[in-house]
Amino acid sequence: MRKQIAAANWKMNLTLQEAKNLAASISSQQVDSGAGHSVLVAVPFPYLSAIQEILRSNSGFHVCAQNLAATRNGAYTGEVSASMLQSMSISYALVGHSERREYYHETNDVLAEKINRALECGINPVFCCGEPLSIREVGSQNSFVERQLNDSLSHLRAEQINGFIIAYEPIWAIGTGKTASSEQAQDMHHTIRNWVANRYNPQIADSISILYGGSVKAANAEEIFGKPDVDGGLVGGASLIPEEFKAIISSLKKG
Ligand code: PGA
Repeated sequence: MRKQIAAANWKMNLTLQEAKNLAASISSQQVDSGAGHSVLVAVPFPYLSAIQEILRSNSGFHVCAQNLAATRNGAYTGEVSASMLQSMSISYALVGHSERREYYHETNDVLAEKINRALECGINPVFCCGEPLSIREVGSQNSFVERQLNDSLSHLRAEQINGFIIAYEPIWAIGTGKTASSEQAQDMHHTIRNWVANRYNPQIADSISILYGGSVKAANAEEIFGKPDVDGGLVGGASLIPEEFKAIISSLKKG
């Protein structure tokens, strides 16, 4: 069975001490690795080492970067490269979160480069996609997301995309308290898996973990994660509350 993943996205929140306390608290949660469960915690760059150290006590937990540079190295003040993350034994990074796309103008083409940089350094990208409200309102969400996949992922070879992680996050549901219905999530996850099956093959499509993101909380996680093509979630606000996130981890599909 493909991996079922609960991913926390702390965004630009918490002091170092608050971050350490939160990591210590959530990492006491049992993770059923036998059922293919794992937990990612996407933390701000300066906290990667400290949080990695704390999460080491629970083998089901992995620290994750929130971004990486599209370029390899050199005169790019303020950027963090994939090889820097690799040298710190970081093996996951979010790529293309909608906040990066919107506020930092990351295009599908730039994101294709970021994916390449990650893979070159043995980092598993968590590729984020999803439509804005205006696109959902005219019913064009499937072709919009397919375009994001085409532009940023279709250059990859089959062995590069095997076991890949994609997060579907409808922008209108992020931080708004407005969750997509579990049917809307399933419909889009099915569309994404079909895209992979058509571009590559059904076996590879079946190996891909597709996470849902957008106002996931303890109260709705089990219903959303229960859908056949939903393999866990990418969680912002609720991941800052230990009891909420622990309940979300225990809502991952059992098999
Ligand atoms: P949210 O954020 O859970 O606060 O809606 C999700 C995300 O942006 O990854």
